[in-house]
Amino acid sequence: MSDELVPPGLDTSKAHPARRYNYWLGGKDHFAADRESGDLLERHHPSVRLTARENRAFLQRAVHHLAAEAGIDQFLDIGTGLPTADNTHEVAQRINPRSRVVYVDNDPMVGVHARALLTSTPEGRTCYLQEDLRNPEEILGDPQLKEILDLDRPVALMLIAVLHFIADHQEAREVVAHLVGALPSGSYLAASNFTLDYTPPEQAAVALDMIAKGQSDAHPRTREQFGDFFSGLELIGPGIVPVSDWLSPVPAGQRPTAAQVAIYGAVGRKP
Ligand SMILES: C[S@@+](CC[C@H](N)C(=O)[O-])C[C@H]1O[C@@H](n2cnc3c(N)ncnc32)[C@H](O)[C@@H]1O
Repeated sequence: MSDELVPPGLDTSKAHPARRYNYWLGGKDHFAADRESGDLLERHHPSVRLTARENRAFLQRAVHHLAAEAGIDQFLDIGTGLPTADNTHEVAQRINPRSRVVYVDNDPMVGVHARALLTSTPEGRTCYLQEDLRNPEEILGDPQLKEILDLDRPVALMLIAVLHFIADHQEAREVVAHLVGALPSGSYLAASNFTLDYTPPEQAAVALDMIAKGQSDAHPRTREQFGDFFSGLELIGPGIVPVSDWLSPVPAGQRPTAAQVAIYGAVGRKP
């Protein structure tokens, strides 16, 4: 960790998803515990850095598509992550400078960095809320969110690589249903979630054992479980696919394999 943007009281002795993901992406905002956890997970899933990059590229393609093709100019990005290149508002505002983005994360370190770095174009708006995805009522009722997003107009809800931190599938389904339920027709859900569907059984057993031992906090979902999040929505593009296959500009034979990527992505429209 190289700069002074560390909130007081932050427990740096425990690995946190935002900082571990930053480590995998080659960023500089992580501590020893995050690196140790990142290295441990990488030993069992050697392509994890590729997974992180592919997931990030999916987020950017999804935002680009929603802004450029679907005319979306409002985004609610929950599980923001530490700011890196081409964050949601940068991709959206390059297409429409008036785009508005509300970022939400539960890591105080993301909060400090996001408030400093996720700054809007003059024509658009961004804000950051320190909140937990598991509290959709608080997120939707936040006065800052209401000031920035018009919930009578379509919004893209971004839940990219964050749902797998909610262990209980039913709880995750309810959270998504609550958030999507609050958005008007013409809104979108873009999401991704870790999966073991393509992982060889022995390696999958190790991954599950690591979760049971508290060494991993990313909960895999099958294709069917991931599809539950899109219940009642119309999937666009290729549907539910490994993130590297979602409207990828890379020819099919040259993309990473589903086993390497191990994370599903999809985008759905609320009818
Ligand atoms: C793997 S990063 C993904 C960042 C970004 N969405 C992306 O895909 O590039 C996961 C982010 O979700 C946040 N997160 C994890 N659990 C959360 C929760 N229950 N509520 C809000 N944010 C959460 C972490 O702090 C981290 O910033």
